[in-house]
Amino acid sequence: MDHLIRPRLGVNVDHIATIRQARGTRYPDPVAAAHLAEAAGADQITVHLREDRRHIQDRDVRVLRETVQTRLNLEMGATEEMLEIALATRPDMITLVPEKREERTTEGGLDVARDITRLEDYIGRLKASGAHISLFIDPEDAQLEASAELGADAIELHTGDYCDAADPMGNRAEGGHQNRRGELLRLMQAARRGRELGLLVAAGHGLDYKNVLAVSAIEEIEEFNIGHSIIARASLVGLERAVREMIVALETGRSHLRETL
Ligand code: PXP
Repeated sequence: MDHLIRPRLGVNVDHIATIRQARGTRYPDPVAAAHLAEAAGADQITVHLREDRRHIQDRDVRVLRETVQTRLNLEMGATEEMLEIALATRPDMITLVPEKREERTTEGGLDVARDITRLEDYIGRLKASGAHISLFIDPEDAQLEASAELGADAIELHTGDYCDAADPMGNRAEGGHQNRRGELLRLMQAARRGRELGLLVAAGHGLDYKNVLAVSAIEEIEEFNIGHSIIARASLVGLERAVREMIVALETGRSHLRETL
């Protein structure tokens, strides 16, 4: 299906790694999850290699680079360590995000406008290697213009404020912003401005099966990167099968292996 019919979907598999890291096991493997996501039609695999390695590990990025059949989008903070990894791994897209250790997830966009001098040098070094760069920003004119000035190929609009805002029924007013319609408008204007500036426009963070509907209608947004809601849903829709398989394992052990004990 081409992007005029639907935007591209990048599936973020970080939280498969979160489950793995909780036990220090080798499963579930985010690489296996990436292959399943691709088989289901994902257009891209997205992972965030965090400074503290709380979920995705360096090995995951390496193996994903070797095995992803679609596109690999590496999200990372603009640090020297990540620059080296990105240059060695050569993902199809590098998305620069803010990274603060104490945050549970990426809470806000990169302040490109404020950090323009440092980012100019950093992005310049990445682009010299032929890398494609996306900047994860809040839907604000100053951020869009600074991103274009820096020669970014793409921007990813942070949808967190939209997702946290109350919907027209007044539900889910967790964030400071109360007006979902207003937040949607900000995203629409930013997407249009991004396109005018010649940037590829992506969006993501906090999107779920309901709140994605209105944002997906914004034609200028060509790509969505979605993780938590998909992995959360997978854990529920797959649960019945997983329980049945364990019951079969218990039955098999009891009926076939009793004599061997
Ligand atoms: N895009 C970016 C830049 C992100 O940092 C994240 C979270 O890692 C996502 C998309 C996916 O967000 P979520 O897991 O809430 O769907």
